[in-house]
Amino acid sequence: MAKNGTPRRRAKSAEHASAAIQDSVGAGVLPRGVTWTRRHLLDLDDFSFAEIALVLDTADAMKEVLAREVPRVPALRGTTIVTLFYEDSTRTRSSFELAGKVLGADVINISAKGSSVEKGESLIDTVLTLQAIGTQILVMRHHASGAPYLAARNASFRVVNAGDGWHAHPTQALLDAYTIRSRIGDLRGRRVVIVGDIAHSRVARSNTWGLTALGAEVVLCAPPTLLPMGLDGACKHDGEERNLPAVRIEPNLDRAVEGADVVMALRLQKERQASGLLPSTREYARLYQVTAERLARAKPGAFVMHPGPMNEGIEISSDVAHGMHSLIEEQVANGVAVRMAVLYLMMRGTKPDS
Ligand code: CP
Repeated sequence: MAKNGTPRRRAKSAEHASAAIQDSVGAGVLPRGVTWTRRHLLDLDDFSFAEIALVLDTADAMKEVLAREVPRVPALRGTTIVTLFYEDSTRTRSSFELAGKVLGADVINISAKGSSVEKGESLIDTVLTLQAIGTQILVMRHHASGAPYLAARNASFRVVNAGDGWHAHPTQALLDAYTIRSRIGDLRGRRVVIVGDIAHSRVARSNTWGLTALGAEVVLCAPPTLLPMGLDGACKHDGEERNLPAVRIEPNLDRAVEGADVVMALRLQKERQASGLLPSTREYARLYQVTAERLARAKPGAFVMHPGPMNEGIEISSDVAHGMHSLIEEQVANGVAVRMAVLYLMMRGTKPDS
């Protein structure tokens, strides 16, 4: 007899393994008492502590799947996921693709470059086309703030915002929260400093909502020209007045990092100098670069993060970016588990009628 048994026996054992895997990503492992009730994931601005915790706890289960010798489960077999990117991406797109594939989904990647968008097809027509081919989850990045909301209003599939303009990048904020929680535990009372071009950063906005919902103290640090309007007032969201979460503003980085548990640097886009918001990138680096010397003012052992891609030598020094307190590669790795959790909850954690 062959070493691995007869074909019928092998098929039976694969069936058993598959059922066991299905169970291990199912309700038995997932947190009890909270259910996912959202059709789309567009931002974290109205997420509760419990909802974010559900995603992070689910990501823990997904990490266990990723640690297996063969990291594949059939949890989303038969699900069609389309990633539609109107802007460049390395981390977000590859991790969503891998997340879908690990869960057994069919994943189709579309870039605006090379698609019918280049022939002038409108966003709505693209959305309706993707609906017609049977898309169940659309993961979308767009340079215009609000574009994923438009897609969500015009299609029957579920939409995940993978970054829209300066507005939101909810899965980045979830993976950042996951990374911090996995290193320092409960975020309540912890101080996270976000330094850089806050005004033009969807990462800063979503992180501010997510981290404050988890009870962290958020300190925003930037030159006054790169701080958004309305931090101390009300903002409009879908026509509804809403206060931004309470944050501390500290334009001096040396003061901002004092007592910090985590310092998160943001990418400085070169266009900011051309548009007159900064005198020079050299001046910016002098005042706002996260360096070892500045990090020494934070709590002992404080961690450094960056959503990527980085400009080493501008917003962060190379020794800090690759040093022992850097969580930057861990953020990227955790992106897969967190995006698996999001995809899984959207398809399997929702009540059938929602
Ligand atoms: N952090 C982030 O969104 O990276 P990408 O642009 O590479 O996806």
